[in-house]
Amino acid sequence: MEGNSVLLKELLTVSACSYSLLAALVLVLVTAVLGGRGEKSRKAAPGPRAWPVLGSLHLMAGYRVPYQAFSTLAQRYGAVFGMQLGSVQCLVVNGLDNIREVLMSKNNHFDGRPDFTRYKQLFAGDKDNSLAFCNWSDLQKTRRDMLQAHTFPRPFTSRYNQLDEILSEEWSHLYVQLKSSNNSKMALKPLIVQGCANIFTSYFCSKRFDSDNVEFMRMVRNFDEVFYEVNQGYAADFIPWLMPLLGKHLKRIAGWSHEIREFMEKAIMKERLESLNNNMDMDAPSGDYVDSLIEHIHYHKQPTLTWETAMFALEDIIGGHSAVANLLIKVLAFIVERPDIQQKAFEEAEAATGGRDVTLADRTQMPYTEAIILEAIRLIASPIVPHVANQDSVIAGYTVEKDTLIFLNNYSLSMDPALWDEPDKFKPERFISAEGHVVKPEHFLPFGGGRRSCMGYKMVQLIGFSILGSILHRFSLSPVEGVDYQVPIGNLALPYDTFNFKLEHRF
Ligand code: HEM
Repeated sequence: MEGNSVLLKELLTVSACSYSLLAALVLVLVTAVLGGRGEKSRKAAPGPRAWPVLGSLHLMAGYRVPYQAFSTLAQRYGAVFGMQLGSVQCLVVNGLDNIREVLMSKNNHFDGRPDFTRYKQLFAGDKDNSLAFCNWSDLQKTRRDMLQAHTFPRPFTSRYNQLDEILSEEWSHLYVQLKSSNNSKMALKPLIVQGCANIFTSYFCSKRFDSDNVEFMRMVRNFDEVFYEVNQGYAADFIPWLMPLLGKHLKRIAGWSHEIREFMEKAIMKERLESLNNNMDMDAPSGDYVDSLIEHIHYHKQPTLTWETAMFALEDIIGGHSAVANLLIKVLAFIVERPDIQQKAFEEAEAATGGRDVTLADRTQMPYTEAIILEAIRLIASPIVPHVANQDSVIAGYTVEKDTLIFLNNYSLSMDPALWDEPDKFKPERFISAEGHVVKPEHFLPFGGGRRSCMGYKMVQLIGFSILGSILHRFSLSPVEGVDYQVPIGNLALPYDTFNFKLEHRF
């Protein structure tokens, strides 16, 4: 018995040994096979050969939108390809799954932003002063957390109701101005930019300015210049030694942003600080966005912010009004020659309001108006702000080196005939379900996604809806003879002097 058990023990020991050996062997083999496969797939992405100095910048020439070039190149090199632009190593990412890998599943690898001199110029030489162009950091997380409550007001809350009241007030001013045009040619953009600026300053800073306030009007104009600027691409962004050629231009950029800062400090922050006179009740809930910034600068709410950081955070968010205003003018240009769309929106507004002015509460009853805005955003196909890899990583199986600039091809997501029926046509109904609700397909990502997603898209939806719904409710638009209403795509901005319209009052 004992001999047997010794034998069994020896056998077990032997088998245990051989099992361990076998397991080790299998592990080595599996690692070798997987490692080999990994090595094979974990290679650099294919892409065009780079020329000295230019890299592959020349391949972007001749396209209405640079992102169209990316779609064409994807047909040759595949959905994910690398290309050197000037001195910057870039990776172009096409296709929903690959884009989601960057924005969502690996968002902590790709949360940096490019280091363009032009952008630094707007933020006193430090890109980390900017909300959209900074790298990810604890500070950025704080700034986003602070903004959340203000830029994403929830229905039935006091902030939401306050925004609704501000929108009604601003509409009453705009209405008078539009009505007085009496169906003659009018430059709408200056009025809409000014109206949007007042919506933003009223909502975030509890302050409205009249149109005879020269400094305010100058600030509005400066913001529009800056917005136009950040929406342009320059070869010098990728070939830094060309930058001196932009010398004068860079000075103008610095001048605009300096004037904006002076206005914000004087007319908003300092005035508020004086009125608070150091008597702020820290237990009281924070009021507007200025109050919450002040809590972090002066009242030691953690984490504390420097004056400069807070000022930039404020002006950056107030600058969002330019995005909304420029978008609205583009929307109007898309539909000025489409009386059918205008009529449908008018009927929808009449049915929802019974004749009174449009309010945010009507939004659920006015899906077509919202769909007009979404369709314009789709067709504009504005790029997702480029990301930068903060570490070595992998996308779609290809290696990506730290500091690689990542272009996410939103143009292909918005315009691919495989994803959209007749993508070149303006068809708001594509965003409305059979049950009459607004629906957005998952490949519609105009505001990006993940930890660097747009902080202003709710404001775009709410303010855009309110102004567009109100205009189409009270006026019909018609083209001015000789104006070509082709809307520039691939960016959100329009020059200050842009499309004119004729507006006829409906009653
Ligand atoms: C039609 C109008 C707009 C479009 C299409 C748009 C689109 C975008 C996109 C694509 C991004 C980058 C997302 C990413 O990298 O994943 C972004 C970032 C951002 N947007 Fe917007 N945006 C619009 C309006 C606004 C407005 C009105 C505001 C302010 C109220 C705003 C505030 C921001 C901020 C602060 C960021 C930077 C977020 C970060 O990097 O952490 N945007 N936007």
